[in-house]
Amino acid sequence: MKFLKLFLLLFVVQFHAQQGGMWVPSLLKGMNENEMKALGSKLTAEQIYSINKSSLKDAVPQFDGGCTAEMISSKGLLLTNHHCGYDNIQSHSTVEHDYLADGFWAYKMEDELPNPGVVVTFIVSIDDVTTTILAGTESLSEADKQKKIQQNIAEISKTYKKEAWQDILVRTFFDGNQYLLFVTENFKDVRLVGAPPSSIGKFGSDTDNWVWPRHTGDFSLFRVYADKNNRPAEYSKDNVPYTPKHFFPVSAKGVKENDFTMVLGYPGRTTEYLPSYAVEQIAYDLNPARIEVRDAALKVQDGFMRKDQAIKIQYASKYASIANAWKKWIGERKGLIKSNAVGVKQKFEKDLSDKIVKAGKQAEYGNLLSDFAKNYAEIKDYAIARDYYSEVVLRHTEILNFGYRLFQLEQVYTARGEQAFNDRKKNLIEGFEPLYKDFNAQVDEKVFEKLIDIYSKKSPQQFLPESLKGINATQVSADIFKSSKLTSYNGLKELLTGDAKTVIEKLNQDKGFAFVKMIAEAYNKNVAPKYDEINLRNIATQRTYMKAILELSPKSARIFPDANSTLRVTYGKVKGYKPSDAVVYTPFTYLDGVMEKYVPGDYEFDVPKKLIDLYNAKDYGKYADNGKMPVAFIATNHTTGGNSGSPALDAEGNLIGLNFDRVWEGTMSDVYYSPDICRNIMVDSRYILFIIDKFAGAKNLIDEMKIIYNQPKTSKKVKK
Ligand code: ARG
Ligand code: ASP
Repeated sequence: MKFLKLFLLLFVVQFHAQQGGMWVPSLLKGMNENEMKALGSKLTAEQIYSINKSSLKDAVPQFDGGCTAEMISSKGLLLTNHHCGYDNIQSHSTVEHDYLADGFWAYKMEDELPNPGVVVTFIVSIDDVTTTILAGTESLSEADKQKKIQQNIAEISKTYKKEAWQDILVRTFFDGNQYLLFVTENFKDVRLVGAPPSSIGKFGSDTDNWVWPRHTGDFSLFRVYADKNNRPAEYSKDNVPYTPKHFFPVSAKGVKENDFTMVLGYPGRTTEYLPSYAVEQIAYDLNPARIEVRDAALKVQDGFMRKDQAIKIQYASKYASIANAWKKWIGERKGLIKSNAVGVKQKFEKDLSDKIVKAGKQAEYGNLLSDFAKNYAEIKDYAIARDYYSEVVLRHTEILNFGYRLFQLEQVYTARGEQAFNDRKKNLIEGFEPLYKDFNAQVDEKVFEKLIDIYSKKSPQQFLPESLKGINATQVSADIFKSSKLTSYNGLKELLTGDAKTVIEKLNQDKGFAFVKMIAEAYNKNVAPKYDEINLRNIATQRTYMKAILELSPKSARIFPDANSTLRVTYGKVKGYKPSDAVVYTPFTYLDGVMEKYVPGDYEFDVPKKLIDLYNAKDYGKYADNGKMPVAFIATNHTTGGNSGSPALDAEGNLIGLNFDRVWEGTMSDVYYSPDICRNIMVDSRYILFIIDKFAGAKNLIDEMKIIYNQPKTSKKVKK
């Protein structure tokens, strides 16, 4: 009987542990710790996060705001993704030294390359400050409440006890129901150490992006430098390699299906607790609108990039970033529909309503769902208009984006006068220079034509300026691009020459500027105020909804806060999946698969000669798995954008992989995580070691790491 109970408990825990979740590292004791143990982890919560001793979290900084990284040596060696270091690798590249194409390796520390502006942020401690932040907000209106919260955050950021070289960060959790304070250390001397060529680090490029099976060696190496006291410092050649409080041993032992894995990192944003009405809007209204606009922009850019090498370079990075979200939204929409996420949410809402009645909480929570229903119905057209506006005007038609910044400049003058105008103008002129470097008027004219056509026909008509309805987009775009000064950097500087009055007069005579201004003014009048008003109501409703969920769910419920760019722990198992009828994916890929995809000279699927030679000779050093070279693997860890570069750890806390993506069928995990098909994708640490060692010959880096190899097999009897 006792046995059966234990078995059931284990079964329940195991089952639940496959459900995803991004957990706060300082709050793992209890349920999470038990689940992790049941899955095979040997680590205690204290080993993952401790304020008194060094712990795993000390090896996991945020990399430059948007990615994650990990320390893999006592001398500040840092591992992250190739796509996270991409801009830096690019910035050191010239035609003679093209590190994107050929890779880069520092065989001595003196050869490492500084990257001004890059910041690596470590978490020192985490503290719950909810009471302080919410003090004095109880009876305020929603808008005043937000203001008061901001004041309280500013106040505690000034008064909280910390060392002089540390910083404070306060973030909300559970939609405003909890506030946590982070003491951080920001390191600013970060040097490039190594990067494989893009034909390894970006192998498969946009075609393979978000897709399993995957064969990308998506990694790069940096080194964190500190001052003589091991503290953060601006770049100086006198700085020394940083000694982290913890670094990860790198495992060359490999993983098997069903092995425990854990990922620590900085997931950016998820919305797992949206009501069914919101999910329905994402799947059926908002994603389709965004996809449609990006689809058109990408087609135009691609057409030019294929024909013109210079344009290909100019638009490569822009194209990749437009395509990344575009592809994700398509997958997300499909996944939400296929998994009936709306139905799942409706069932959850029904259960919650029952609990509200049972607990006698109708007075506090009884109207939540009807409020949501009303709010989301009301906001729908405004939200669609907002997405079209932001995709068309603020993002993908560059001349409109440039014009919009100038429209803001005009508003600065009206609101704050000549001095503010001049300051902003100076910043703009500097800021525009790199933008125009990667701008091609011919491409943009075509993008403009396609996107304005979509905007005039598809954005909710009731909010559009009259003069935009039924326009001939081809004619309008030709007309504007013929005369507007916004089509070149020199033209722009000409427009901005003179005092405020002169500049504003010139701007308003420019057809490009006048066109943006017309659209922006209509949006600011017809959409923004109402959207903001309904959205503010939704924020308040969402907070109360979250409070109800927290309050009325059983103690055992697995409720985790949405991602908010703070450090989280997610765990699960190495596991394949079944993407569709009759198809099953296994969880590992090998170098053989790279060679299967190989297309000589191709932009996405070329393979470096050296790698082919190593493959043909099966020269895999100590990193092979039964004679094959592992490349990537998948697991049930719940990750999102921002988790790129995150360490994947085994049951002992050794590095087994480097997170860089998710599978296509599971990209909906930002809104609804399903253990059946949501998988994160990692580069196998053995592939990373193999590339550094055998491909690049960077023995200096291999020597500096602590590598864990398989014990040679002995004939020791296994105890029964
Ligand atoms: N999809 C991954 C993430 O969201 C990787 C993106 C970089 N790779 C690429 N081919 N664009 O960021
Ligand atoms: N590729 C993403 C990143 O860059 C990770 C993901 O969305 O799964 O953070």
